[in-house]
Formats: sequence, C-alpha cells, structure tokens
Amino acid sequence: MPSESPSFGQHIETNWASPLRPMNHPNRRDFIQAIGSSAAVATAYRLSGSWLSAQSNSNPAIPDSLFRAIDFDPLPISHADEVLLPKGFHHEVLISRGARLNERGDTFGDDNDFIAILPRGDSEGWLWVNHESTDAVFLLEAAATPDRLTQEVMGRYLQSMGGSCIRISKNRKGVWRPLLPDPRNFRLTGHTPNIPFTGPAAGTSWLKGAKTAVGSVANCGGAVTPWGTIITAEENVFAVYGDPEQGDPPTLVNRYFDRPPEHYGYLVEVDPDTGEFWKHTALGRFAHENIVFATAKDGRLVGYMGDDRVRQCLYKYISRDRFDPAAGKTNRRLLHDGTIYVADTNKGRWIPLDPTQQRPLAAARFDRARICVHTRTAAMMCGGTPHGRPEGITRNGETGEVFISLSSHPYTSSNAWVDPNRPINLAGAIAKLKESGKDPGALDFSFSIHLMSGQDTGLAWPDNLSFITDQHLMICSDYKGHYPPGPRSTHGVFGNNLLTIAPLVGPNAGRVQRFASAPREAEFASPILTPDQRELWVSVQHPGEGSTSAETLISHWPQGGKAWPRSSVIAIARNT
Ligand code: FEO
Ligand code: CA
Ligand code: CA
Repeated sequence: MPSESPSFGQHIETNWASPLRPMNHPNRRDFIQAIGSSAAVATAYRLSGSWLSAQSNSNPAIPDSLFRAIDFDPLPISHADEVLLPKGFHHEVLISRGARLNERGDTFGDDNDFIAILPRGDSEGWLWVNHESTDAVFLLEAAATPDRLTQEVMGRYLQSMGGSCIRISKNRKGVWRPLLPDPRNFRLTGHTPNIPFTGPAAGTSWLKGAKTAVGSVANCGGAVTPWGTIITAEENVFAVYGDPEQGDPPTLVNRYFDRPPEHYGYLVEVDPDTGEFWKHTALGRFAHENIVFATAKDGRLVGYMGDDRVRQCLYKYISRDRFDPAAGKTNRRLLHDGTIYVADTNKGRWIPLDPTQQRPLAAARFDRARICVHTRTAAMMCGGTPHGRPEGITRNGETGEVFISLSSHPYTSSNAWVDPNRPINLAGAIAKLKESGKDPGALDFSFSIHLMSGQDTGLAWPDNLSFITDQHLMICSDYKGHYPPGPRSTHGVFGNNLLTIAPLVGPNAGRVQRFASAPREAEFASPILTPDQRELWVSVQHPGEGSTSAETLISHWPQGGKAWPRSSVIAIARNT
C-alpha cells in the first residue's frame, strides 16, 4: 500500500534485495502502489457455469448449509487480535504454519492462501492449500539482521512456499477434518525438482532451453480444473527471483540459488492423486492471481486471469480444442495449446496475442513461445488496458458475469493513483465484465465498475472474490494494518482486514456487510464451503506481519499469550 510502511528489504544493507515478506505485497512496496482420475468421475463434475460456481455456492435447499440464510448482524470494526464473527457463529483452527504433515518430515508452509477441497467419495478427499511467502523474523524467530539472512535461511524461505496436499475425511461427528499426519500428505515447495513445462515455451531459448523447472514459489490464488486437479498460481515471483522483463532487481535468493527467473510466474497444475506437477506456459507468464474456468458455447475451455501488479492487465485463455466430459484428466491437453487474449476494457474487446493477427508482434518477431514468457510486453504492444492490480476473479454461475477485484483502482480519478485530497488512504473497486451473448468465448464485452471503495460502500482494497449464493458476493479485503491505527488510515476507519458479503440485489445492494474480522495484520483469503456446506474454510494469512522481533510481536494469534503468530486455516460454523 502506498508509502505506509518501509520495506523490510530497505533495512538490509546489501546490494541484494531481501525477498522476504515485503515483496510479497507489491501494493505495500511499489504502489503509491473436482475430481478423480477416471472419466466417470469427470463426467459427474461436468463443466458448466453452475458446476463451476457450485464449488463454493451455498445451496439453500440444504438445511445444514452455513448460508441457508444471510441472517447475521454485521460486525462493528475491530482492532483486536482475534477472529471475530457475528453472534451465532464460531470458528476452529484446522492447521497452522509448521504443522507436521507426514513422517517424512514435511511441514505445513507459511502464508496459507488458496484453499481447494476435492472430495474422493462421500467421506474422504484432498485439501490443497497454497503457501505464498513468509517473514524472515518468523523463519528466524528473531530479528532479521542482515548477517542472519544466510543461504540456509534463503533455502528455508523457498521451502516455506508452494503448497500442501492433505488427506481429509469425515470425523465421528460427520464433519470434514484434515488427517495429520498421514503418509499420503505431500508438499510442493520452492525446491521441488523436475517440474515439467508444457506448451509453446517448453524447451525453447526463452526458458534457456529447459524442459523442467525447480520449484514453485509465491503461490497465491488458484482453481480446481474441470477434470478434478488443482491449479496453483505463481504470483509475486519477482520478489523471489527478480524479473528481468520488468527490470526488477535480483534478490538474495539469486545470490544463493542459480535459477532462471523466467521459470516462474506460471499457472501450475497439481494432480493430488498422483503427486505430479506441470507448469503450463500456454496460459502466459505474469503475476497470476488465480484463474476462473468456463466453457465457450462451442465447447472450448476458457480461463479468466488477472495480473496483480499496478498498471497490468486482465486476460483470458481460450483452448484450441473442445472440452470432452468423457475424457477425464486427458483434458489437461487443453492447457497446452490455445490463445491468450488481453482485455481492452476501453473498447470492450479481447485482443488475441497471436503474431499472425497482430502486426506489432510479428514486427518484433514475437513467436508463440516468447508471448508465453514475455506476456506483459506482448499485451502492451497490442493495446491491453492497464489497471490497478487485477486480483481475485470470480464468475456468477447464474448470469455468467465476471467480477474482478481491482485492488488499487484509484479512489477518485482514473488518472491519479494517489489523490492527496481524498479523506483517507483508500483505493480499490470491483469491476464487472459481461460477455457478448453471455458467451465466454465471445471477443466483445461490456465493462463497468460494480462497486467502488469508500466509506459509503464499506469496501476497501478488495482481493479474493467468490459467490456464496448467486446473489451474494463474498469479498476479502487486503490492506496494511498499523498499531496504533492512524485515524485517517484505511486501518483506522475500517478496522482489521475483513471478510464481507455484498448482496447484488435488495435493500443492502451496493454496500458490504462485515461477516468476519481478522487478527492483527492478517488478511482472510480463499473462503470455501465444505462439500456438505456446513462450514466455511478460510485462510487467515500473515498475522503480525509487521513484527520485527520477539519483543515487538504485533500478533500472537492463534495461540495467544506470548506465542509467535502463525498463519492458519480455520473452519467457521454455526453454533448448535
Ligand atoms: Fe497474493 Fe494478489 O494477492
Ligand atoms: Ca490475493
Ligand atoms: Ca492478498
């Protein structure tokens, strides 16, 4: 967020930028800134608008559904170091940073973000959780002085990112819970070897000839594919390895680990049943927040994608071939060959990043492989519209409308990233994109601002989006906290980060309702209903992130007392 806090890296007296924590949030540093291996199972989870949204949509016909009614009293603002919920709801911590996953020594990473629940039958399944970053002070459990940022610590930093794949089952009370430890649990980390590249860039000079990569890092949002695997999105990889395309400097990680920056910034597929991973270059390389799948009317697979960096673009991918519900996981090939489109939101058109259709690309000798690696450059050459950090995207299964968080959308003027006259340091908006003919495969659309940040709407710095019913949008906020909170800061006015619900219709339309308040310096991420819809699982990410030493911990959540804070996944349920 704009100039509110100095980057931790700025305190490091070295020519190498520290990759830890601050780079995880470009807003804080730069901005003033499904299921199964068989065709039968895939058929049971047919790809359709309603299937896709049903992954987190509440069904009022289920009597135990957490959101059978949106009947809570919105919370007051809070600066307390706890998860606050409306009367009638409670929460339980399911898993925290450092938890033992298996007897092989794998542990739950830090900064848990995207969550997916994949049932395998009625009472077993997989939980996937992304790990986005960490703080040096938490790795060390001591002040992060430059002399302590050694190769060993950088190695642990890479180990803390990626994702955790954890068995889940129903317990004696019939409630879904993780199985810890379990020999089938496994990790993806920044050190995972031999992750194959797929698509046009694999093995080309743009990847320095590589057919595989080492590790996956900066894993933010994600998706469940229509064939029941996971997509984990590599987002702020520039903070880990730098990014020559954007002129980002090398980091301390580069000093100790010689890995090409171009090997990071992709959508990575994980098959929980086999433990395989793939980096799909055909979907482009940028700060991938997440992806939302849909099908074009002609059956091709579509994926909506945002690039979470200031003045970057909104994209969609359309596969060359059609989705085949009977083909199961072999549908993966749809992510190997297709076209990336960048949005011109001023003219309402999708521009194909295809050198046979775009003269600037042909003139600059951009072949398909290079477009998949230097996607941002190609997008700018072709007229993509820059935005204020396109983050979480979701799609309304009923209407087909696509909602996009523009986290840093300016408060007052599209030309001013910071307006010194605005009442508080506040930004962000939620945009709405309607495809022509309600066809995800359309090349024309309308684009509008659905909800602006402001004290009148209650919205600030929106990040993850999901529909809990077709008429209720759930929104996670992501802004920086300060203790004590400044009276004119976002944190002072809105309290700690929020999980809110915004009705699309009715008397409360146009205003968010506060459903949950996070512990100090934490944000909520990736809320998702359990398959029985009785609980909402959500990440509580980076409590106490501004802490600099054991003596100055800003948060002790969830353990309390003098404990170190720990990012955790929680389950929210109604009191019985
Ligand atoms: Fe990792 Fe854009 O939030
Ligand atoms: Ca996010
Ligand atoms: Ca975030």
